Amino acid sequence: MSPMSDKALIEAALNAREQAYAPYSRFRVGAALLTADDKVYTGCNVENASFSMTICAERVAVFKAVSDGKFDFKTIAVAADGEHFCRPCGACLQVLAEFGLDTRVLMANEKGLFEERTLAELLPAAFQLI
Ligand code: THU
Repeated sequence: MSPMSDKALIEAALNAREQAYAPYSRFRVGAALLTADDKVYTGCNVENASFSMTICAERVAVFKAVSDGKFDFKTIAVAADGEHFCRPCGACLQVLAEFGLDTRVLMANEKGLFEERTLAELLPAAFQLI
């Protein structure tokens, strides 16, 4: 059993959301990624005046983990402003799929309520080269 509960991981995502740089959409997203060795990497969305340069919270968290030598992921929590459960975009699903389809995805709203799926459920036909 991981020492990090789902509730605590969602809380970490909600806190990470506070760092969002989202002056254009005003839609703040936070992510918290739990690795196999029980470390947590967080991320927030970082927007840009050249809109397509924007990066999502989930990819920031994944790239922080990978650049720290971690690529075995148990769970990712994603939390955004508003009532809706925040679902990772297709690009983020593809990036997560690179590291395994068993990763649990917790999709939360600003109140901390969430729904859970596996990555395989969200992206059943991921592109793969290896
Ligand atoms: N966004 C994320 O951070 N994660 C997602 O999975 C979907 C969208 C961000 C990107 C942009 O800054 C804002 O939400 C609106 O699309």
